[in-house]
Amino acid sequence: MTTPPDPARRTTSMRTHMCGDLRAGDVGATVSVCGWVARRREHGEHLAFVDLRDHSGVVQCVVDNSVDVRSEWVLRITGTVRPRPEGTANEALPTGSVEIGDCSVEVLNVAEPPPFPVDARADDVDEAIRLRHRYIDIRRERMQRNLRVRATVNSAIRSEMERNGFVEVETPFLVPSTPEGAREFLVPSRKERGSFYALPQSPQLWKQLLMVAGVDRYYQIARCLRDEDLRADRQYEFMQLDAEMSFVDQDDVLDNIGRAVMAAARAVTGEEPPAIERMTWREAMESYGVDKPDLRFGMRLVELTDLFVATEFKAFAGAASIKAIRVAATDHAEAAASGRNKLDALTDRAKKLGAKGLVWIRVGEAGGIDSPVAKFLSAVEVEGLLSRTGAVAGDLVLVVADDWATVCGVLGQLRNDIGRPPVHEGPYRYVWVTEFPLFVGVDAVSGKPRPGHHPFCHPHPDDLALMDSDPLSVRALAYDLVLNGWELGSGSIRIHEPAIQRRVFNLLGISDDEADHRFGFFLQPFRYGAPPHGGFAFGIDRLTAILAGEENIREVIAFPKTQSGADPMTNAPTPVDGGVLDELGIRLLPPPAQS
Ligand code: AMO
Ligand code: AMP
Repeated sequence: MTTPPDPARRTTSMRTHMCGDLRAGDVGATVSVCGWVARRREHGEHLAFVDLRDHSGVVQCVVDNSVDVRSEWVLRITGTVRPRPEGTANEALPTGSVEIGDCSVEVLNVAEPPPFPVDARADDVDEAIRLRHRYIDIRRERMQRNLRVRATVNSAIRSEMERNGFVEVETPFLVPSTPEGAREFLVPSRKERGSFYALPQSPQLWKQLLMVAGVDRYYQIARCLRDEDLRADRQYEFMQLDAEMSFVDQDDVLDNIGRAVMAAARAVTGEEPPAIERMTWREAMESYGVDKPDLRFGMRLVELTDLFVATEFKAFAGAASIKAIRVAATDHAEAAASGRNKLDALTDRAKKLGAKGLVWIRVGEAGGIDSPVAKFLSAVEVEGLLSRTGAVAGDLVLVVADDWATVCGVLGQLRNDIGRPPVHEGPYRYVWVTEFPLFVGVDAVSGKPRPGHHPFCHPHPDDLALMDSDPLSVRALAYDLVLNGWELGSGSIRIHEPAIQRRVFNLLGISDDEADHRFGFFLQPFRYGAPPHGGFAFGIDRLTAILAGEENIREVIAFPKTQSGADPMTNAPTPVDGGVLDELGIRLLPPPAQS
């Protein structure tokens, strides 16, 4: 746990207590509190109640009726703590057994009426309005709590990393473009017209150079920038716990990163988190159809390929892979009982995901089945399908036949569509997914394999012989951490041998000359004694959101962008003055013609 603040140290020259800290034990004390007016209510002819709020909570103050204060005015109130009269205590409020009486009220500032009520639930208010007035939104309980959860996560990570001997090193923000895969934000150079810096997608190359430099264990709570389409788990700017270690194998990295994640979870929840499970990428794909398996629910993919080797059903005959999921009536009653319309919609969804079709089979009483393709299936096939999936009366079975990747991808997505609870719902299930492929698919233009993660991941030593003959089957020493179906982080053991790095670049279609030209600044240092090393980075926004019980990382970021990448508070991005562009040597093209 991180150390809670010492109440005595939160006093200032203006206040003796935080509003939310007052308790029955303070009765009799003369106190000063500062904050915002949450509510003012008349109380009889001569008195009024003012609920004064700061981030710690609300306290009721009894003031003279002549005091003219309104919502969100900023006050300092001095008075005496006393018990609330018999029968008026408010159990729901931590300060509910007391009030401040004999109050003198100092108005520190007046306020216009806020654009939305501070004490209403945040999700009652339109998001654009919340973000336009984020300073008001943050005054609310939900954001106050989330920002503090975030601070707890950061603090716990720092302590744990330091305890494990990691040194915090800051890396630059103005960097050259690097080959990590995401689209970069560019910054024009004034001194060198026509040249650009990139903002870092991550400190990847710098942390590896720190290993060459003998730092041994590096970490940073690093801001990363990527020009990607925004989603619930993606922002342009986000924070990583970024780490790198020398003279390690994969388990060393997983142990150390695991400790940091567990420390953060423990600090926020006050409970011992469950151990992190582990599976290979292939196991994840075979059983869950995705590389981010959500282990909170079953409905695993069931292998059926061999059952249909001699089938007469055309859609299944000769298929490289056939798998099914069982939608159990006991767990997913509504989905299992889907009528024709819903089943048609499910089939359309499967096709959109790349399947040629979707076979559905509803299990009736006494082992009978209802399916549009029932007449094409033999008794042995039906029996095998039911016993392997474990389907019983009332269940629905969905089957896809295709190449292995399509079958896994489609059923994995349908499984998530049907069964996946919101990301923050317990229980937490952490899992390391290891042995990711070194390459994923082939680039349509160049015909070369594409890197699975980034081109610096070490191939699995057992697969080096396959590099030329069958590159797509080569595993990497690359791993992800997944929590409740969200990718929390990624990492790998890196290539430290120049010859292997060259082979990987060559397979990617990057010649030695081009590699030297593009990443020479990174590759050259490796000639001067690069230790074996590896590392990891996990998304602090994502971990914080889940621990804070939120479904969107915007809720745990003080000043995030909207889904379309805008900031309604500052109106960024904004056009800039022509003079500024001239200085940078930049001329804008006319807007693209409307089609
Ligand atoms: P990767 O690109 O997988 O790895 O990023 C690591 C983690 O960063 C978080 N993340 C994001 N969070 C919010 N918004 C985004 N746009 C966003 N993009 C990524 C995710 C992700 O798992 N340098 C490597 C790590 C390494 O190999 O050591 C890297 O950055 O939680
Ligand atoms: P068809 O022979 O194309 O009329 O398809 C017969 C049934 O099989 C339909 O319900 C299709 O949705 C389904 N189907 C066709 N191809 C596949 C496939 N590759 N995998 C699963 N179901 C399929």
